[in-house]
Amino acid sequence: MLDQYAVFGNPIKHSYSPIIHEEFASQTKQRLIYKRELVPIESFAASVDKFFRGGGLGLNVTLPFKTEAHDYADIVTDRALLAGAANILSRMPNGDICGDNSDGIGLITDIKINLGWKIRSKRVLVLGAGGAVRGVLKPLLQENPRSIVIANRTVKKADALVKAFQDQFEISVCGYDNLCSRSFDLIINGTSAGLLEKGLRLPDRILSTENIACYDMMYGEKQSAFLDWAVLRGADIADGLGMLVEQAAESFFIWRGVRPQTEPVIKLLREMLNTS
Ligand code: ATR
Repeated sequence: MLDQYAVFGNPIKHSYSPIIHEEFASQTKQRLIYKRELVPIESFAASVDKFFRGGGLGLNVTLPFKTEAHDYADIVTDRALLAGAANILSRMPNGDICGDNSDGIGLITDIKINLGWKIRSKRVLVLGAGGAVRGVLKPLLQENPRSIVIANRTVKKADALVKAFQDQFEISVCGYDNLCSRSFDLIINGTSAGLLEKGLRLPDRILSTENIACYDMMYGEKQSAFLDWAVLRGADIADGLGMLVEQAAESFFIWRGVRPQTEPVIKLLREMLNTS
């Protein structure tokens, strides 16, 4: 029987993960099966049990189960522990299930390697303080930006988030209304909602005057209003498609011990998105 992998989520219909892993497998001549599974909200643990009992080797976990995946795992890596969330569950040789998190490295690799943007010494603004942001904060800090500000609708939530990181790095927190007096070189949108679609206004002056870069962790057929806003103001922009492929590449490397090439896969998905 071929080695089995899958992605678990709800919803899951539009997940690109099977395509990405099939591309990686054919590129690296690995023989495996990768499926997608719609998991009922209340039966994540039972579904994971069943998968691994049936001989499955590894899972990618997506919304809304990443925190549950972290709690399910017998052991977790440091990066999953800090994120409080796991997007990878792997069966270890002794049968234990290990939880890992490759979202942060996916984001950083996309920004630094694929896009060639600098994070070091930059003034970074992160929009949002939910699970997606929590997963990428530590890898961002490790890149030594000059400063990081987190803006969130619910400031208390951002305060709670940065508490876990505060001993290592000074992170400021504010609401969207208090952004006016500062400017930034790199803005990362980590909110789940299309903020600007929902009427939020970002003050123009938060963009520094040169080499501005705006990254949206979401992606879709249509460019987000956040990226539209950024383009109009002369910023370099990118959506989260590269991050998606890079986090998958890290999963593939953990499971198969080979690093696939991500560039052709990002290109393929971009074409699919543009024609869907
Ligand atoms: P995820 O795990 O995808 O990050 P989440 O934990 O529910 O999801 O977090 C969603 C993020 O989007 C939060 O930062 C949330 O802001 P609040 O903490 O104030 O709820 C943000 N968000 C969602 N809808 C929003 C809206 N209409 N306006 C502003 N922020 C919004």
